[in-house]
Parts: sequence; structure tokens; C-alpha cells
Amino acid sequence: MKPEVLVLAASPSASVMEQLDQHFHCHHVWRQPQDGRAAYIASVAAGVRAVLTTAAIGVDQALLDQLPKLEMVAINGIGLDAIPLDLTRARGLAVSNTPGVLTDDVADHALTLLLAAARRLPALDRYVRAGEWEAGVALKPTRALRGKTCGVFGFGRIGQAVAARAEAFGMAIQYFQPRAIDGVATPRADSLLDLARASDYLVVCAPGTPATRHAINAEVMAALGAEGTLVNISRGALVDEAALVDALRDGTLGMAALDVFADEPRVLPALREVHNAVLTPHVGSLTVETRHAMGQLVVDNLLAHFAGNQLLTPVN
Ligand code: 8YV
Repeated sequence: MKPEVLVLAASPSASVMEQLDQHFHCHHVWRQPQDGRAAYIASVAAGVRAVLTTAAIGVDQALLDQLPKLEMVAINGIGLDAIPLDLTRARGLAVSNTPGVLTDDVADHALTLLLAAARRLPALDRYVRAGEWEAGVALKPTRALRGKTCGVFGFGRIGQAVAARAEAFGMAIQYFQPRAIDGVATPRADSLLDLARASDYLVVCAPGTPATRHAINAEVMAALGAEGTLVNISRGALVDEAALVDALRDGTLGMAALDVFADEPRVLPALREVHNAVLTPHVGSLTVETRHAMGQLVVDNLLAHFAGNQLLTPVN
């Protein structure tokens, strides 16, 4: 008998979806209408041995408590902020995520945002569409990237990939995270505040944890400054969004370029209104190639677990 898997979200990769149905008895929650999902889950809960979720959806205690035969939580994504690891550990559940395969695309998106902010891409797009070019409306020059400093907060895989890309644009790099990394030549600032002071662009790559919540506060924004740009491709919770709106409105901070928000998919109306922000809907890893690779890693972790093998990418 195939193991029963509760699939909370689909992968855009047809091959991944086929493999899931081939190897597992899948209960596709995402196919149910929103208002029918709770009843659907209750109707299949007794036999479920694994939950396939995303980093954004996660799992909660109520769901875990409903699944007496649960052995594994397979996360399609890397963030662990929506996973109650204390509960999964207490129950001895296997947990996997998808590190490595999304690094390049998320780092690419960080640079996409950084460049869009630096060169005022959304405003220029509007300018052309609105006929302002033809009308001869004056344009101000933007600032070059070369010679500027890119500060990277959180210097793991993604942070280092962002740094490599920013370096290719002629930027100087500094990073901060509490733990220094051995064997890395990039200078480490003494604190996040020092990093913000030294940076023209501050790219947030640190994970969303209780310790990093609102790390990017009014003081950090002021240190980044009126000519500074904040880029966030990690989690919205790291930024004090109310302070961000104030800083963007009064010009204490020059610009923000954000892929992630505190209460996704809801975005503060005030943030949607400020002119000096570039906003994208949490799409850092949303490419055909990466979403396939992530989904494949999820399938491979599930297969490993049910074959009694080590997970490929366990979360400990
Ligand atoms: C997606 C992410 O939101 O991996 C993460 O932590 O934030 C993104 O890749 C998502 O989980 C993809 O399903």
C-alpha cells in the first residue's frame, strides 16, 4: 500500500506532481475549495503518514494533532519560521526542506530588486507608458552601483550568492551575522547597525526567527540613510514595517525593494502607496527550474523516508 501524503500545495512542475501520485496515495488539499479544506482534511486525517507543505504555509499544532499516524513533514522551501520544530521534535517526526536548489534564483531576485531600485525601474516604466518621454518630462539621473557598498545581513548560502553578484557589479561587500564565518574574506561589520551605517544597499538574507524579528528597525533604517536602499528577500518579519513606512515617507530612508512582507499576501496599504518602494509578491524562488528542483527534492526526501533511508536534506 502506498503511504498516504497530505499535499497542502501543488508544485508547478508536472513531473513532480506525477511522481507524487505515482509513489504515494496523495490527498490533494489544494484542489479543494478554501471553505471545504478543513472537512476534507478531517475525512482523510486518520491515514496520513506525511504532510507536504511549503515554507509559507507551514504546519500548525492543530493540524499535527489531527494526524495520529504522521511520520514526516516535507517542506517545499527552506524557511522554517512556519514550522513548530519544538512539536515536530517532541513527536519524533522527520522534517525535510529544500536548501541549496533555490540559492541562485533567490540571489538573482535580490539583485533584480536592488537594480530596480537603483535605476528606478518601476518609475521609468510608468514614465514611458504614460507618454511622459514624448512629452519631454525631465528625468533625473540615478546613481551608479560601482563603488557603492552592499551590506549583506545574514551570510549563509543566499547571502554569499548575493555578495558574489553584487561584487560583479563593482560593489564593495560587508556582511553581518552574529556568528563570524571562518575562511570568508568578506569583512564582517561589528553589528547590524554598523553594517547599515557602512552600506548604500542593505540586503536582508537572514532567516526569520524570534531573534531576527524587527531587526531592521527605525535606527537601522536611519543608519542606512536618505541615500540608502533596503532590499529584503528573506522574511517580512525582520523589518518593522510601520517604521519602514515612516522612514520612506519622511525620507530618512531612500528606498526599499521588498519581495517579502510581514502579513503575506496582505501588504500594508501605506507601503503600497509610497512612491519610493519596489514591491514583488514573494517570488524569489519562482522560476520553472527552481520550482522543479525544489519539488524533486521534496519527492526524493519522501521516497528516502518511506524506504527507511536517511533524508537527503533533513532539518534537525
Ligand atoms: C517560497 C521561501 O515561499 O523557501 C522559502 O523559504 O520563502 C520560498 O521559496 C516557498 O516556500 C515555495 O514553496
